[in-house]
Amino acid sequence: MRTLQAMILAAGAGTRMKSHLPKVLHTICGRPMIAYALDIAASAGVKQPIVILGHGAELVKPLLPKEVKVVIQAKQLGTGDAVLSAKRALTGTMGDVLILYADTPLLRRTTVQKLIESHFKTGATCTLLSAHLADPSGYGRIARNETGQVVGIVEEAEANAVQRAIREINVGPIVCKLQVLLDVLAVVQPSATKKERYLTNIISHIARQEGAKITVTRVEEISEALGINSRTELARAIGVIRQRIVEAHLHNGVTIEDPQTTCIDHGVSIGMDTIVHPCTVIETGVSIGKRCSIGPFARLRSGVSIADETRIGNFAELVRTKVGTRVRINHMSYLGDTMVEDDVNIGAGTITANYDGTNKHPTHIGKGAFIGADTVLIAPVKVGPGAVTGAGSVVPKAHDVPAKGVVVGVPARPLGTLAGGPARRVVHSSADGPARPLNGKASTAVPAALPARSRTREHSAKRVAASVRRKVVLKKRAKPVAKAARRVRLRMKRVLRAKPARRAAARKRITMKKRSHRR
Ligand code: UD1
Ligand code: CA
Repeated sequence: MRTLQAMILAAGAGTRMKSHLPKVLHTICGRPMIAYALDIAASAGVKQPIVILGHGAELVKPLLPKEVKVVIQAKQLGTGDAVLSAKRALTGTMGDVLILYADTPLLRRTTVQKLIESHFKTGATCTLLSAHLADPSGYGRIARNETGQVVGIVEEAEANAVQRAIREINVGPIVCKLQVLLDVLAVVQPSATKKERYLTNIISHIARQEGAKITVTRVEEISEALGINSRTELARAIGVIRQRIVEAHLHNGVTIEDPQTTCIDHGVSIGMDTIVHPCTVIETGVSIGKRCSIGPFARLRSGVSIADETRIGNFAELVRTKVGTRVRINHMSYLGDTMVEDDVNIGAGTITANYDGTNKHPTHIGKGAFIGADTVLIAPVKVGPGAVTGAGSVVPKAHDVPAKGVVVGVPARPLGTLAGGPARRVVHSSADGPARPLNGKASTAVPAALPARSRTREHSAKRVAASVRRKVVLKKRAKPVAKAARRVRLRMKRVLRAKPARRAAARKRITMKKRSHRR
């Protein structure tokens, strides 16, 4: 029976990141770097991986899943030392161990699975993962003898010019027989240059052992080999993972118009036939339904879920907000801690003022409500189903708008209800006097605040009437014009008919003149 334990090395200081944050907590598409290594261990079937922490351990530890066995490496004396410090956390010395570095987040699960399969299939003592890089600088080089057998891994700091020219590098993950690993590590000496105990030095020791076998598996694609030591490498890793995420959504039937400018985090679900327009940011945990249109320039933050056929347009930011079907949030809005029911229209520039400086408060917008452009909803507040807020309204907190109620102004005053039923009293703290209870039908001033559809219908009826009137007036005016035109035409005809006679008269005049000149 094969038993596989796993350990993840995450104790290093990450000096080259130039950061106060431990390297493994830097995020890649919405999750800390170390999460990717934990994924790999889980996909290898390891239920309780050992994570070796050191630098910033107090920050990393709380973020790890409960099942993880945490080991503290008191001093970061090298990757070999890190493995040795986890000796006690290992269950026995039987079986094999998978060692992962927490700073190679681009590794694919399938690649590591292949590495493990190959290790067990070949009965190897130790199996490495390699990649051939055009620029191998910074990585440990895999040294082979004339027959191609691996004889060791040479770290860059220790390598001579010939060794530095080797393009085959050590990606990091190693599967090794546990007993061999521990025995060999006990005799590995710290390096001459860095004074660190390198894990990679075990290879030359194992290579010299009688009957030991070292096999090498290659990565599926070069990008997998990227180790993150600097911000430049972090940026590259983010680019690669972002592209992988986009490809997965494209594969699932989502249109992403410009993958280059679309940032979708890990753990986002998007339904079929939804279109994501350029320059859109969708953060971890967001779920979007089918046939939606998102962006351009939309930002959907954590805790956002959107049902089907909804449109979120440019410069809309949503956080901790649930949005129903067929909702329109087309331009320049901020909705935080909000529940938006089906068929709501959120006018341009609508803002939920959800934060009072201490606490965040909820906003509820009922089915079919029409929020006028530039409305400010001061939370906690509710807008009832079918209600309307006029353009520029400021709805004060706790001054709920009743179902089908119409409010306008700053602070928003009730104007009645759309259906004409008894309007409920809407209390408000108006500077221009106490709240007025309003009953009966909506005032005649309402049209400016009517829902878009009825407003357009009314307007189009008016427009048709006006154009009919205009046509009648034009026809009336056209009559005398036509008469005059006919008169002109007749005169012309007469003139034309008269032409030959006139020409003769002119000729006569000319000959008379000529004659008088001769005289
Ligand atoms: C390491 C390998 C190198 C390989 C490269 C791949 C060694 C000696 N070298 O180099 O062969 O090509 O990764 O990216 O292993 N860590 C600890 N404790 C320590 C030191 C490091 O836990 O005392 C952890 C780090 O947090 C990191 C990982 O081990 O996650 C690798 O350490 P790092 O210093 O980044 O090694 P590299 O120089 O990149
Ligand atoms: Ca590294």
